[in-house]
Amino acid sequence: MEKTTIILVCSCLFSIMTFSSAAGDTIAANESISDGQTIVSARGEFEMGFFSPEGNPHNRYFGIWYKKISNGTVIWVANREAPISNTSGVVRVSSRGIVVGTNHTTRSIWTSNSSASVKNPVAQLLDTGNLVFRDENELLNFAWQSFDHPVDNFLPGMKFGYDLVNGLDRYFSPWKSDDDPAPGEYTHRVDKNGYPQLILWKGSVPWYRTGPWVGSRFSGIPFLKPNGFYVIDFVITQTEVYYVFNLVNSSESPITRWTLAPNGVSTRYKWNRDKHSWSQYLTLEVSDCDDYEFCGANGVCNVNKSPRCECIKGFDPKNPEHWAEADWTSGCSRNVELECGNGDDFFRYTGLKLPDTRWSKYNMSMSLVECRDKCLKDCNCTAYSNTDIRNGGSGCLLWFGDLKDMRGYSADGQDLYVKMAASELINSYTEGSKNSGQKTGVWIVLVPAFVVLAAICCLLLLYRIRKKGIKRAVQVDLDNVAAATREQGPDLDLPLLDFIQIAKATDNFSDNNKLGEGGFGAVYKGVLEEGQEIAVKRLSKDSRQGVTEFMNEVSCIAKLQHRNLVRLIACCVEEQERMLVYEYMPNKGLDSVLFDKEMCKSLDWPKRYNIINGTAKGLLYLHQDSRLKVIHRDLKASNILLDYEMNPKISDFGLARIFGESETQASTTTVVGTYGYMPPEYAIDGLFSTKSDVYSFGVLLLEIISGKKNRGFRHPDHNLNLVGHAWRCYTENNLLGIADKVILNSSNEHEVFRVTEIGLLCVQEYPEDRPSMSSVVLMLSSEIALPCSKKPGFCSERKKPNDTTSPASNHTSCSINSSSVSFYAPR
Ligand SMILES: *[C@@H]1O[C@H](CO)[C@@H](O)[C@H](O)[C@H]1NC(C)=O
Ligand SMILES: *[C@@H]1O[C@H](CO)[C@@H](O)[C@H](O)[C@H]1NC(C)=O
Ligand SMILES: *[C@@H]1O[C@H](CO)[C@@H](O)[C@H](O)[C@H]1NC(C)=O
Ligand SMILES: *[C@@H]1O[C@H](CO)[C@@H](O)[C@H](O)[C@H]1NC(C)=O
Ligand SMILES: *[C@@H]1O[C@H](CO)[C@@H](O)[C@H](O)[C@H]1NC(C)=O
Ligand SMILES: *[C@@H]1O[C@H](CO)[C@@H](O)[C@H](O)[C@H]1NC(C)=O
Ligand SMILES: *[C@@H]1O[C@H](CO)[C@@H](O)[C@H](O)[C@H]1NC(C)=O
Ligand SMILES: *[C@@H]1O[C@H](CO)[C@@H](O)[C@H](O)[C@H]1NC(C)=O
Repeated sequence: MEKTTIILVCSCLFSIMTFSSAAGDTIAANESISDGQTIVSARGEFEMGFFSPEGNPHNRYFGIWYKKISNGTVIWVANREAPISNTSGVVRVSSRGIVVGTNHTTRSIWTSNSSASVKNPVAQLLDTGNLVFRDENELLNFAWQSFDHPVDNFLPGMKFGYDLVNGLDRYFSPWKSDDDPAPGEYTHRVDKNGYPQLILWKGSVPWYRTGPWVGSRFSGIPFLKPNGFYVIDFVITQTEVYYVFNLVNSSESPITRWTLAPNGVSTRYKWNRDKHSWSQYLTLEVSDCDDYEFCGANGVCNVNKSPRCECIKGFDPKNPEHWAEADWTSGCSRNVELECGNGDDFFRYTGLKLPDTRWSKYNMSMSLVECRDKCLKDCNCTAYSNTDIRNGGSGCLLWFGDLKDMRGYSADGQDLYVKMAASELINSYTEGSKNSGQKTGVWIVLVPAFVVLAAICCLLLLYRIRKKGIKRAVQVDLDNVAAATREQGPDLDLPLLDFIQIAKATDNFSDNNKLGEGGFGAVYKGVLEEGQEIAVKRLSKDSRQGVTEFMNEVSCIAKLQHRNLVRLIACCVEEQERMLVYEYMPNKGLDSVLFDKEMCKSLDWPKRYNIINGTAKGLLYLHQDSRLKVIHRDLKASNILLDYEMNPKISDFGLARIFGESETQASTTTVVGTYGYMPPEYAIDGLFSTKSDVYSFGVLLLEIISGKKNRGFRHPDHNLNLVGHAWRCYTENNLLGIADKVILNSSNEHEVFRVTEIGLLCVQEYPEDRPSMSSVVLMLSSEIALPCSKKPGFCSERKKPNDTTSPASNHTSCSINSSSVSFYAPR
C-alpha cells in the first residue's frame, strides 16, 4: 500500500545557450545582462541567467542554478508564469527592482517589486543562492531578496514561514510539471491558525501535515533524527514564524536542499561528492496514513495495523457500515458526551502525530499540569499536550472540537491527552470492552472493591515484612525517634498506587513503553498524571519466585535513601499484580553506554571516575551506612543506571539480602547472580558476605576502566578474562595496558593507574584480603598508600588444559610492581 514515489530529478536538465559570464556577481544600475550571459556568485557556488527546461526548448526563463556542483540544478525562477519565447530576454536593474524584459521594448515581463526605493540600486547573486536587490552601499540591508519568494527549493539559511511586520509569507509552490516552472496545484505553507504547523495544500484542500513543531522536530516526522551535517530550527515569536535549516559547517558539510516535486512529494537531497549526483536523504509522505485525515475525525491511522484506522478510546465510528467497508472518512464520534467539569478525565496516548492544530491554542510557558487544568475547565477543550517534548516536556497546547489527522507510530511519537467522560476512561482500561453501559456499571462497583482489596493486601504485606524483619533482627536505627515511636515498627513510607493509575501512566502497559524484560517480568516507562516520569517493574503473574523477590525488594529498598541508589516511588499490590514504581533513568544502564562502540567515547575519564565513586558510595551505604545491612548480590554494569547528569544509581534489589548486625556471612543453596561478577567463594561454595559485593565492584571497576566486559573478554596473546588480563598487566608492570585508549591522557595516568590497582585489590581471591567498601571509598578519595594486590579469583574462564604458561597460575609476587607503587606513591 506504500505509495510509490518516483522523483524525477529532471528539473536540473536544461539548456543554456552560449555561456559567457558577465564580470562579477552584481548587476549595477547602468548595466544589463542579455540571454546568453550569466552572473556567477563570488565563490562560484551559484549562477544565474536565462535557461529553457529540457522538454521545452522554446521558452526562456530567468533563473538561478547550482554552478560548482551538479552543473545546473535550478533552484529559483523569476518569470515562471511569463516565459520569453525567443532569446531577446534582458535583465536590468531599476530603482523599482530587478526587471526581466526584452531588448526591444521597455515593457517588463517580470519585476521584483521592491517595496523600498533605492538610490544606487544593484542586484547581487550571493553564494547562498540568494539574489538580492539593495543599495550599493548597504551591504546587508536588502530591499528585496529571492529567498523571500521561494519556488520549490528550500536552501540553507532560507526562512520558510511568515513575517507579520514585513508582510511576508514565504511558501513553496512546485513547478506545474518537469518542463513547466509555472506554479502547480500544490503549495506548502506555514499555517497561521492556532499553533503554527506546516501544511501541504492541493489547491484549497489540505493534503499532508508534518505536524506541529515539538521542540526538536516535527511531531509527524518522528524518524527525523539529529544528524552531523545540518540542523533544523522552527522559530515562533509574536510577529514571525519560520522554519530554517543550516549546514553544521558550511565549508565541510555535504550540501543539502529540500524540494517539493510537481506531484507534491517533499524530498531532502544530499550532494554525493563521490557519485557526483544528488542522493535522496529523506522523503516525506510515503504512506496513505500520511494523507490528510485518512481516518476521518477522531480516528488514528496506523500503518502496522489492519485495519488501518481505529477510533480513539471513548469514540466509535459515526457510520459503522462504511467503517466496516474500509471507508473511514466519516470518522468517529463520542460514545458518552463530556460532562463538562469534574466528571471528565483524560486518556493518555503515546506515539502519536499530534492532531491538526488549526483549532488549537497554545502557551509556551505553561506546564503540563496547568495545561490539564486549563483543558478541564474549558468545556470546549478536547485534548492537550506539551508544545516542547525536550527535557521532560514543557508548554501547553490545547485542542478544541474534533481531533483531525492523527497518526500512530510504533515509537517516538508524542503524548496526547484526550478528554473523555470519566466513566469511559474506566471502560477503556478493561479488556478492550467498549460501549456496554452495563459493564460500566459493573466496573463502578468493581473498582472500589479492588482498592479495598489492594489496601488489605498492602496491610498484609506490611505485616509480613514486619514479621520477617523481626526474625532476621533487622536493625532499626534507635536515633530515629519517629520510627521508634510509631506503632507500625519498620515503616514503609511508600505511597500505594492503584492498578488503574499505573495502567494509565504506562498506556495500559503498551509495548511501545516497554523498557526491557528482566527475569521476573517486564519494565515499562510511564508518566504519572502530574508529569513525573517513572519506570514500572511489573512482576509476571506466573513467576512464583518473583513474589519472594518482590517482598524482598520492597522491604529492602523502601527504607534506603541515597543519591546513588535508584529511588522507589511507590508500589502496587492488587490480587495477582505486583508492581514497583521507580524514578525513571533516562540514560539507561551503564552497560548500554560503556559497551557500545560509539557511545563509550562520550564517557571520558572524569565521567567514569564519577561513576566509580558514586557506585562505591552507594555500595558503602548499603553495607554499613543505612539502617540495614544489605548485600546486593547482583552488582553489574546493567544494574547501574544513569540519570540526566550521568550520575550512577544502583538498582535491582531483587536478590539483595538483609543481614542482622551480628551476621557477617551467610550461605545459600541456590546461587543466584551473574557469572563474571561472582567471587569464587560464592560461585563455588554459595558463601556470601559484603566482600562478595566488593568482588563484583572490583570487576565493574575494571570494566569501566577498560570499556570491556569481563565475561567474553578476548585477547590475542592469552585466554584470560578481563580480571586475569588486568592481573597479568599488573605483574608485567604495564597496568595502564588495560585502560580504554579513549580515556587516557598524560594528566590522568596517575589516577587511572591508582583506580585500576584498587580494582585489583577488590577482586583478590580470598574474601579476607579484599578491602571493605569503606576502605575502597577512602582509597578512592585520598592518596593513602595501597597495599600490594594478591592474585585475583577467577582469572580465567576458558583455560586450555595444556596451558601451563598462564602467568596467573602462580605469580603472586608483587615485587616488580612495588617499584611502580613507590613511583606513584603519594606526593
Ligand atoms: C556605470 O555607473 C558607474 C557608477 O554608478 C560609473 O562609474 C560607470 O562609469 C558607469 N558605466 C557606464 C558604462 O555608464
Ligand atoms: C558541466 O557541463 C559541462 C558541459 O556539459 C562540462 O564541460 C563541465 O565539466 C561540467 N562541470 C561540472 C562541474 O560537472
Ligand atoms: C521576441 O519575443 C518578444 C515577445 O516575447 C517580441 O516582442 C519580439 O519581437 C521577439 N523578437 C524576435 C527577434 O523575434
Ligand atoms: C537586441 O536583439 C537583437 C536581435 O535579437 C540584437 O541584434 C541586438 O544586439 C540586441 N540588443 C541588445 C542591446 O542586446
Ligand atoms: C509587481 O507589481 C506589478 C504591478 O503592481 C504586478 O503586475 C506584478 O505581478 C508584480 N510582480 C511580482 C513578481 O509580484
Ligand atoms: C569547518 O571545517 C573546517 C575544515 O575542516 C575547519 O577548519 C573549520 O574550523 C570548521 N568550522 C566550524 C565552524 O566548525
Ligand atoms: C501563559 O501562561 C502563563 C503562566 O500560566 C501566564 O502567566 C501567561 O499570561 C500566559 N500567556 C498567555 C498569552 O495567555
Ligand atoms: C464553546 O463553543 C460554543 C460553540 O462554538 C460557544 O458558543 C461557547 O461560547 C464556547 N464556550 C467556551 C467556554 O469557550
